[in-house]
Amino acid sequence: MYRYTVLVALALVAAAYSLGTPQCTLSNKCTQVHQWMNDGVMNTQFACEITNMGSKPVTNADIRLNDNQNLYNTWEIATSNNGLSWDFVKWREQKPLAVGLSHSWGYIVKSDKPLNVEVCEKGFVNPPASPSPVHSAADASRHHPNHHNQDSSDHKDKVLKCESTLVQTIVNHYMGKDHLKYTQVDVTVHNTGEKSLTSVIFFSDVHFNSTWGMTEVDRINAPGNYEVIRKSSSLAVGSQQKFGYVFVSDNTAAPINLISNAC
Ligand SMILES: *[C@@H]1O[C@H](CO)[C@@H](O)[C@H](O)[C@H]1NC(C)=O
Repeated sequence: MYRYTVLVALALVAAAYSLGTPQCTLSNKCTQVHQWMNDGVMNTQFACEITNMGSKPVTNADIRLNDNQNLYNTWEIATSNNGLSWDFVKWREQKPLAVGLSHSWGYIVKSDKPLNVEVCEKGFVNPPASPSPVHSAADASRHHPNHHNQDSSDHKDKVLKCESTLVQTIVNHYMGKDHLKYTQVDVTVHNTGEKSLTSVIFFSDVHFNSTWGMTEVDRINAPGNYEVIRKSSSLAVGSQQKFGYVFVSDNTAAPINLISNAC
């Protein structure tokens, strides 16, 4: 039985490779580092890192800041087509991003929510169409009634989606010995994309009394940013994983904001 399972697993892995599933070798992560009000509008600053997960240095990237009408500022990335796509800044041509290293960049958006950021190396080649289920799902979602934007729809063809959802469920609420009301919440992170997730980061500014399955990214530079996939493991397409917390509240879950998915 065990041997059979192993064989099936190996066959699936082999099949996935032979189909030539497109793989970006750049992975991007963002954290929320600052938030303030300006003229009655919330501004939020994000610090991001693009990591080269591949096997050769990368000089150019194809970075998409989707739905970016509220984008206010960016640094260490540049656009030559008015924001349709972005690339590393010029100096990367002299100093390509080495294997395993990260390029730091950031942005400010006039909103309390992050942008949907997609990153891939530039000129990423779309493999020939194949009948794999992964491709059929991508095919179905890309048939957009009015894709007047050739460049952007091309990009969608090439990049497998890196996405997740967080669903909160209150599992307990009680009065503490200190007479404060506590709520215990389970959160399910679901890989709703087309690639294995290596990181999911969310933001919350509540004080958690206890947590499990979530780690604060950087208490000093990015307080309130929590990562929920363990570095050693990744979350496969369609799979889910749980984490949770207890905090002072009267039977309500904490407001949490999904900041970044990395694959
Ligand atoms: C939980 O956190 C709150 C702050 O939000 C604090 O007042 C309370 O004492 C903490 N409870 C415990 C049991 O540590």
